[in-house]
Amino acid sequence: MTDQTPAPYTGSQRVLSGVQPSGALHLGNYLGALVKFARLQHEIETFIFVADLHAITAWQEPAKLADQVREIAAAYLASGLDPAKATIFPQSAVGAHAELAWVLNCVARLGWLDRMTQFKEKSGQHKERASVGLYTYPVLQAADILIYKATQVPVGEDQRQHLELTRDIAQKFNHDFGAENFFPLPEALTQGPGARVMSLRDGSAKMSKSDPSDNSRLNLLDGVDAIAQKIRKAKTDAAPLPETIHELADRPEALNLVGIYAALEDRTPAEVLVEFAGQGFGAFKPKLADLAAARLGPVGDEMRRLLGDPAEIDRVLAAGAERARAAAEPTLAEVKQLVGFWGPGR
Ligand code: TYM
Repeated sequence: MTDQTPAPYTGSQRVLSGVQPSGALHLGNYLGALVKFARLQHEIETFIFVADLHAITAWQEPAKLADQVREIAAAYLASGLDPAKATIFPQSAVGAHAELAWVLNCVARLGWLDRMTQFKEKSGQHKERASVGLYTYPVLQAADILIYKATQVPVGEDQRQHLELTRDIAQKFNHDFGAENFFPLPEALTQGPGARVMSLRDGSAKMSKSDPSDNSRLNLLDGVDAIAQKIRKAKTDAAPLPETIHELADRPEALNLVGIYAALEDRTPAEVLVEFAGQGFGAFKPKLADLAAARLGPVGDEMRRLLGDPAEIDRVLAAGAERARAAAEPTLAEVKQLVGFWGPGR
C-alpha cells in the first residue's frame, strides 16, 4: 500500500453511507449506523443509499428484492432521516457507482483484497464457490464513497477495514493519474458505544442479520413484547455490575448490555455503571428492556406505517436517485477524463 503523506483535501465535506437490503435490520445497524445518519444530516450534506448492488453478492430472491429495498428506506425514514435534508436512494438507480467501481477494480491490488477479513468470514470454507462480486465487494464500496467525494462515512466498527481500503484506493488513484487531492481520503465515523453491538446470546460474536438464532438480536420490526422477552433471555452472568468498565473486561455479555444501555441513552458506559454498580441483572434487565422498547418501539411502528404506503417510499427513492445521479455524474466525467477514455474532442 502507498505510504506518502497526502496533502489536505480542500473540497467540501460530505457524508455518505449505506445499508444492505439483505435481511432484517437490528439494533446493531440502528446504533452503529442509522442513528448517526439522522444526526449528521443536520451538520453536513448527507447521501444515504440502499446497497442493493452489494446485497446480490449473495443470492437474493428477485421477487422480494425491491420490497427489501423499501424496508431499508422505511427504516431510514423511521430513524429520523429527512428526505428534504438527506439524499436517500437505491444504489442500483445510480449507474455511476458500478462504472466507477470498474475503474477502481483496475486500481486496487489483489493483495489488498486478499487481506479483507469480511470476505474470509462471508465466503467461509468454500471460497471458490463465493461470487466474484463478493470478492470485489469492498471496491464497489470504495466507489460508493468516492463517486460523491465523501469525506465522512458513518459505519459500525466492522466496516473499518473497508474504509482503510477505500483510502488506499483513493490515494493510489490520485497518484497514478497525477491528480493530487482529486479524491479525498474519507474518514470512518465509528465513535460511541453502539459501534459494535454484540449478540445477545454470545458476547464474543457480533449482532448480525445472518445469525440463525433470532434471539441473538433485537430487530427493528420486533414488537415491544418480543424486545422485552429477548432481553430477559439474553445471556448474562451471576455477578452484580461493577463500578468500572475495566472490571467488565472478561464479562463480554455484561459489557455488551451495559454498552447497549449507554448507546440507547446517549451516555457513556461509565455513566451507566455509576447508576447500576452493585445491582444484579435481575434489576438491570427490566430497566434495559423498558429503555429498548421505548427507543425501538416507535421506530418499528413508524416503519410499519410507512410500509403501508409503498408509493410514498418510492417517491422518496426516485427523487433521491435523481439528486444522487446529478451529484455523481460530474465525478464520473472527471474520472473518465483522467483515465483518458475517448470523448468528443478528446
Ligand atoms: P451492513 O448492511 O452489513 O450494515 C449496515 C451498517 O450497520 C453496521 N453494523 C453494526 N454496527 C454495530 N454493531 C453491529 N453488530 C453491527 N452490524 C452491522 C455496519 O457497520 C454498517 O455501518 N458494507 C456495508 C454497506 C455499504 C457501505 C457502503 C457502507 C456498502 N457501501 C459505503 C458505507 C459506505 C455493509 O455491509 O453494511
